[in-house]
Amino acid sequence: MIDKLEYTNKHELIFIDQTLLPLKEKYIKTKNYKDVAEAITKLRIRGAPLIGIAAAYGIVLGVHHYRTENIKNFEIHFYKVSETLRSTRPTARNLFYAIDRMTKTFEENSEKPLSEIEDLLLREADAIFDEDAEMCNRIGVNGADLIGDKMTVLTHCNAGELATGGIGTALGIIYTAKKQGKEVFVYVDETRPLLQGARLTTFELDKNEIDNELIIDTMAANLMREEQIDCVIIGADRIASNGDVINKVGSYSLAVNCAFHKVPFYVAAPGSTIDFEIQSGDKVEIEERDPGEIKEINGEKITGNGVSVMNPAFDLVPAELVTAIITEYKVHYPPYNFAGLKHMFSSYVQSIRAGIEEKS
Ligand code: MRU
Repeated sequence: MIDKLEYTNKHELIFIDQTLLPLKEKYIKTKNYKDVAEAITKLRIRGAPLIGIAAAYGIVLGVHHYRTENIKNFEIHFYKVSETLRSTRPTARNLFYAIDRMTKTFEENSEKPLSEIEDLLLREADAIFDEDAEMCNRIGVNGADLIGDKMTVLTHCNAGELATGGIGTALGIIYTAKKQGKEVFVYVDETRPLLQGARLTTFELDKNEIDNELIIDTMAANLMREEQIDCVIIGADRIASNGDVINKVGSYSLAVNCAFHKVPFYVAAPGSTIDFEIQSGDKVEIEERDPGEIKEINGEKITGNGVSVMNPAFDLVPAELVTAIITEYKVHYPPYNFAGLKHMFSSYVQSIRAGIEEKS
């Protein structure tokens, strides 16, 4: 497994800088929550679940390295830290899921001594991390049922080890299928403009000995026309109650192409990615990123001055184009209604947590 992120007993966070992969495997070590916020904003740490995990540890760093005996000051500082982390990326549901859990832990224990609150916050961050790893395993098992021997899968962006606390969501399914003895071949969309597919997914698949080939994003439709793709599996940044999926820009055009060519389009994500409160995906804020990500390659300008750019990081796949959504709980088929499953998901997380605590 790739060592992507660790909170040490010296109260520092160590994480791999994903912007430099695969050419450099550089680790950043910090005691400062602002560095964690910067790392999330700049995509050094990325992928919805890993963003949530990092933000939880960012809060732990923020409170641990702040010295006060005064609960009021501690409280003001807690909200300052959590707001800084909350404002890093607007679309990833797991970011808000994790910060809300940390806030709840803080608020429910605010009468206790400060050192005890700090310990409880660290335990909660560890739980978010461990639960995510376990959810990935379960998504892997549930999703692997959809994968037959010698299947060819296409994926977009990176929804693997580097994006989660465990083996990944979309890629976790492929790793699990391989463990079951199935041969799987993966076409990897390069994923313009930040090339998570070309840089991260090929790196990860190679480490896990999964045969793969890199393609430019616009080639996917042609491969489908030639009947070379058995299914598409992607991750999600957020899923609305009706099954609308928000994921890396380019996901919608893949889904349209799948519908046209009758290729199954699967989405893999944990319950922590589902926004049970919103009915449909058009309510979700889509992050707009720096135009420089498109106008430059490796710091070199590739467009004339004054070119205007639209650079949304994600797009929306309407539920009607999603063949199935694979969660830690089961494989869900349309019509989706996650609002009705909210309590089931939260008690499922409790049972996962209890199982992890029993083992440790
Ligand atoms: O901008 P990124 O690299 O954070 O985008 C990541 C994705 O779109 C992933 O597919 C999604 O977060 C799911 S990761 C399990």
